[in-house]
Amino acid sequence: MTPSDVKATLSFSDGSPSMELPIYRGSIGPDVIDIRKLYAQTGKFTYDPGFLSTASCNSTITYIDGDKGELLYRGYPIEQLAQHCDFLEVCHLLIYGELPNAEQRAKFVKTITYHTMVNEQMQFFLRGFRRDAHPMAVMTGLVGALSAFYHDSTDVHNAQHREIAAHRLIAKMPTLVAMAYKYGVGQPFIYPKNSLSYSANFMRMMFATPCEDYEPNEVLVRAIDRIFILHADHEQNASTSTVRLCGSSGTNPFAAIAAGVACLWGPAHGGANEACLTMLEDIQKMGGVEKIGEFVRQVKDKNSSVRLMGFGHRVYKNYDPRAKLMRETCHEVLGALGLQNDPLFKLAMALEKIALEDDYFVSRKLYPNVDYYSGIVQRAIGIPVSLFTAVFALARTVGWIAQLNEMIGDAEYKIGRPRQLFVGSTRRDVKPISLR
Ligand code: SDX
Repeated sequence: MTPSDVKATLSFSDGSPSMELPIYRGSIGPDVIDIRKLYAQTGKFTYDPGFLSTASCNSTITYIDGDKGELLYRGYPIEQLAQHCDFLEVCHLLIYGELPNAEQRAKFVKTITYHTMVNEQMQFFLRGFRRDAHPMAVMTGLVGALSAFYHDSTDVHNAQHREIAAHRLIAKMPTLVAMAYKYGVGQPFIYPKNSLSYSANFMRMMFATPCEDYEPNEVLVRAIDRIFILHADHEQNASTSTVRLCGSSGTNPFAAIAAGVACLWGPAHGGANEACLTMLEDIQKMGGVEKIGEFVRQVKDKNSSVRLMGFGHRVYKNYDPRAKLMRETCHEVLGALGLQNDPLFKLAMALEKIALEDDYFVSRKLYPNVDYYSGIVQRAIGIPVSLFTAVFALARTVGWIAQLNEMIGDAEYKIGRPRQLFVGSTRRDVKPISLR
């Protein structure tokens, strides 16, 4: 980061001494005001719950321009990556900083392929869950449990350990998600098949059974691979910030990623795709397109807690570029499956059109986000609603790892330890119970 020749001056109306604060410039995007010395020099904290105006780190991985609706992974536009690359190439880009050449790609694909099996003991760990456990509860447990099986790659300060753990997590997440799914539907686990691509392997582990051969549908494989690419990383979102804060204590990579899985589960974050599809199904039950007006009225009613799930974003105040690509994928998949008249897809497009013409949403700059169409695509592929966020976690694992490794690799990083504005009781003495 480059010191700017502009400085910020902080002055106080009570005559307290003013303070000059350095400003730093990134390669693109907003400058930052460096407040690291603020408390030492003024005895005051900044106050920014929800981190609306706070940069928690400097990073080289992902850049978002919310006003332009732009998303770059290591400088490459998401539109170009979705069109010209596959997910493992994007993983290589996020982890190592560059797209692989043919030789690097072959080596990386082989490395990941040969890490896709999980320790056999994990299936017995999984059997401890109820069959109807939510897949994200299972995934939070399984990912955290990886640290109990792979002790030889848990020293987060060892670069080789970080690389092996990265390979293991990227490789094993599809296997674990498929195991969570099979366990829930009472079918036998399907082992990975090394002759298949990453995404074809996932589809086979999800939908094959021992009873017959399974040939992955290339259109669906390409669709799921694109879903992985679109969800791979997204700057300092809630779950990535969770991974960074958790990892800043020096805990092992598996535990830090498990924290990210837990955070992603929330409906305001990665759980929105599940919530969005449930919302569309509820509107369908109400009467479909004719009932959109009634639903939108509920959303606008401040007394109702109804939100248009899959809409709005803390950063994007324009169309989420991923939502556009996801809508394209929707068309492709539904067309390939002869479902172009899928009522839910038609409902989603009608609702999007109405919302984008309604001042409530336009004035608040609420546009579809990545979660709005991803649920429809996944449902068409055959993935159950309850597994949507687990698929999101599968894809986001590479971004979490890249961000964690970037932090740990920065010699300046410290354990994250925010402060607070205390508004509770001042000092008081305990009274005997008879006097309370
Ligand atoms: C993801 O951070 C990331 O990058 C996340 C993510 C990633 O890749 O990691 O992009 C993935 O999490 C996408 C977001 C998925 N979540 C949803 O779709 C859930 C629905 N959307 C929201 O709840 C909301 O939009 C957030 C949480 C996404 C953003 O919330 P903010 O930035 O805190 O905005 P806000 O809640 O303060 O809302 C501002 C206004 C409010 O109205 P007023 O109080 O000004 O009258 O907009 C309204 C909100 O009520 N609003 C909505 C709305 N989202 C915001 N009203 C109806 N429906 C919505 N979806």
